[in-house]
Amino acid sequence: MEPKVMETEVVIIGSGIAGLLTALELPAEKKVVLVTKSALGAGNSSKAQGGIAAALGRNDSVELHIEDTVEAGRYVNARNIVTNILKQAPQVMEKLISLGVAFDKNRGGEFDLAKEGAHSSRRIYHAGGDATGWHIIEQLKKRITKNVEVLELFNAYDLVMKEGRCTGVRGKNKEGEPVVIFADATIVAAGGCGQLYSITSNAEESTGDGLAMAYRAGAKLVDMEYMQFHPTMLFARGRGAGLLSEAIRGEGGILVDEFNHSIMKDRHPLKDLAPRSVTSLAVYENLKSGREVFLSIKNVPDFPERFPTIAGRVLAEGINLAGNLLPVRPGAHFMMGGIAANEWGETSIKGLYAIGEAACTGLHGANRLASNSLLEAAASALLLGSRLKHEGLSVEKASQVHWPLSSVPPILPELGELKGRMDEWAGIVKTKENLLQMREWLVNFQPYLLRSASFELTEEQLTIKNMLTVAWMVINSALERTESRGAHIRADYPTESEKWSSLSINWEGGSLKPSIEKKRSGHERNRYDEPVIN
Ligand code: SIN
Repeated sequence: MEPKVMETEVVIIGSGIAGLLTALELPAEKKVVLVTKSALGAGNSSKAQGGIAAALGRNDSVELHIEDTVEAGRYVNARNIVTNILKQAPQVMEKLISLGVAFDKNRGGEFDLAKEGAHSSRRIYHAGGDATGWHIIEQLKKRITKNVEVLELFNAYDLVMKEGRCTGVRGKNKEGEPVVIFADATIVAAGGCGQLYSITSNAEESTGDGLAMAYRAGAKLVDMEYMQFHPTMLFARGRGAGLLSEAIRGEGGILVDEFNHSIMKDRHPLKDLAPRSVTSLAVYENLKSGREVFLSIKNVPDFPERFPTIAGRVLAEGINLAGNLLPVRPGAHFMMGGIAANEWGETSIKGLYAIGEAACTGLHGANRLASNSLLEAAASALLLGSRLKHEGLSVEKASQVHWPLSSVPPILPELGELKGRMDEWAGIVKTKENLLQMREWLVNFQPYLLRSASFELTEEQLTIKNMLTVAWMVINSALERTESRGAHIRADYPTESEKWSSLSINWEGGSLKPSIEKKRSGHERNRYDEPVIN
């Protein structure tokens, strides 16, 4: 079938906060196409509970926010990027408020700032109690202007490249027809890949499609070993049943075992508000040794009023709130790695930009500080939007559209099998032995990792193909990094190593093997030298 050809100035892949805000930041004269895998705004951003971190309160400062970010990130953050992005907080908050996002206020009419793990100050802005992402996305969606053509249910599956430059994207529209969209600027804002695991806070759409497309196009990806697990996914009816925000612990919630003993009391000076990598590991170790873990909400005042969405979900799962104990499991939450990009979203490929979770700016280091991701996505969207404002048409559109067709039917595993193996062999705590087992299994599908997607594949096959590609990068990066740091925990290398603090693991040119490079910016010595894992 001949593909339908579209031409535009900017194509945006993804409709979370990063994609929508970039679209809104572009001037009304710019021709923009925004493609999204399901409905507009569905995805991780709209599920964000805790909120957006901005050091604007009394007794707070950007310097403190920087220190917290770098300490949680285990000192491998890109310092210059941390500063540049966190400094954007006033502009981001002003923008979101001007677009109509009603952040919660206290009775005195001031913003009701919340606290989350590893923050030294109350600096989390939230909306609707625990529905911050939903409130932001609803406002952004309403304000999309006529110059932005939205294509919902669009399965983007490969970037179009010409002479080393990205010239657009190809995919299948909602009618299942092949479409090529040529653009001067192609923006990947397609989110992360939490769906690689069976328990995840991520939306169904978070299958790493943007990461896989960028990899096949030869873009540089970094830090793919840093997959963050959130310690408190509600566990009900034998499955992950939604996130229990870290903000609950900010209001007095504590992690306890089945004997009601605190599991964080002696584990870290910040106890239940320790960095996420520490709390997740504590939950994991308790479960491993056969003890159930609960989030006790006994000391959280007005729980149903402060956390209405969560309270509703807990009740819907048949759990009695009055019992004050919510069963938890850690779940895949955020990919710190991604397409190497600066704070403006520029990548290693001309014409290709990456923002939000799909990008790796280096802000998060080895472990993201809570609520820094909405800030990063919004800050990059504003910066990129302002940069593209001034760029004119420059791409020479391809006259002939080559539509790759695969001659061999793909052999792909079932989604459940892929997730099950990732849970078993590449979960919170990894070992060389397990990672090698995972790699051996993935090798069966290696011939499909680099090949362009083809129109014959079903949507599910396209998704699984992308997930295998991302799993390949995660596993091989985790094998290379022979230390434990932040969210990357190796039982066989339980400490942080000086050598690795200045090295990064990169994927470029569509290579099946990563390369190891000196990191882009300077690093500091760690303050703690104790083992990450006992
Ligand atoms: C949460 O509400 O616990 C999640 C916040 C985040 O991951 O930034």
